[in-house]
Amino acid sequence: MAGLILNNKSMALCLVLVICGFGLCLVSTHAELQRFGQPAKTDGTLSFLVLGDWGRKGAFNQSEVAVQMGRIGEKLDIDFVVSTGDNFYDNGLTGKQDKAFVESFSQIYTANSLQKQWYSVLGNHDYRGNAEAQLSQQLRKIDSRWLCLRSFIVNADVNLGFIHYIQANNVDFYMNGHDHCLEHISDTESPIQFLTSGAGSKAWRGDIKEQNKDGLKFFYDGQGFMSVQLTQNEAEIAFYDVSGTVLHRWITTKLLHSST
Ligand SMILES: *[C@@H]1O[C@H](CO)[C@@H](O)[C@H](O)[C@H]1NC(C)=O
Repeated sequence: MAGLILNNKSMALCLVLVICGFGLCLVSTHAELQRFGQPAKTDGTLSFLVLGDWGRKGAFNQSEVAVQMGRIGEKLDIDFVVSTGDNFYDNGLTGKQDKAFVESFSQIYTANSLQKQWYSVLGNHDYRGNAEAQLSQQLRKIDSRWLCLRSFIVNADVNLGFIHYIQANNVDFYMNGHDHCLEHISDTESPIQFLTSGAGSKAWRGDIKEQNKDGLKFFYDGQGFMSVQLTQNEAEIAFYDVSGTVLHRWITTKLLHSST
């Protein structure tokens, strides 16, 4: 499963995004992973969009979702975008020259606010094609936003007060794609939040699996994406549909829990 773990425990002063590709989360340890530094804004806040399961040359609402990402990206002044995998449908890229890269990525996510670093990992559909092509430096020459690895870590220096709060409260966010929906599940026995953003174009609509999950806070089987905002006192997660309407918002506030 393509996944992204927003984990606060491994470094005292940094927010750590561990981004793992298909099947790699279980085997990888932090030490082995390549690290990238992602500076926060000068006020210590950080925001980004999370998208999965998208590359369809604009069809199947991919372009519509992209337009709304551009709008929300502008509004939140995002710092980067995370792609959780299944980047190019149906069978990944055929090679470094595959036009699908430009047709499904460069020519689709054209908004100003999306001209940021994209951190991408591979999904199972990507492995059906030439996975090495997606990982190659060649694509970065075509579009410098693209950074795709099997898995890696993004260190982000965000506001310390908030990090201390999520450390003290052991809050972890597990974000993944692959399941073609938008979903938020709160673990019933811990503060862990499971967030799925796998609906950049491919969606389950009309093909819903039986829903019987404890802690399910939100489920949507149409297309859309997710935003994450980390500010001084809170973390805010929001899910949007094709028209950019907020379908679900979840906020965890430092002040609500803090004893000081
Ligand atoms: C595009 O999105 C709309 C609104 O959610 C939906 O009704 C429609 O079926 C979607 N189209 C495709 C091709 O997925």
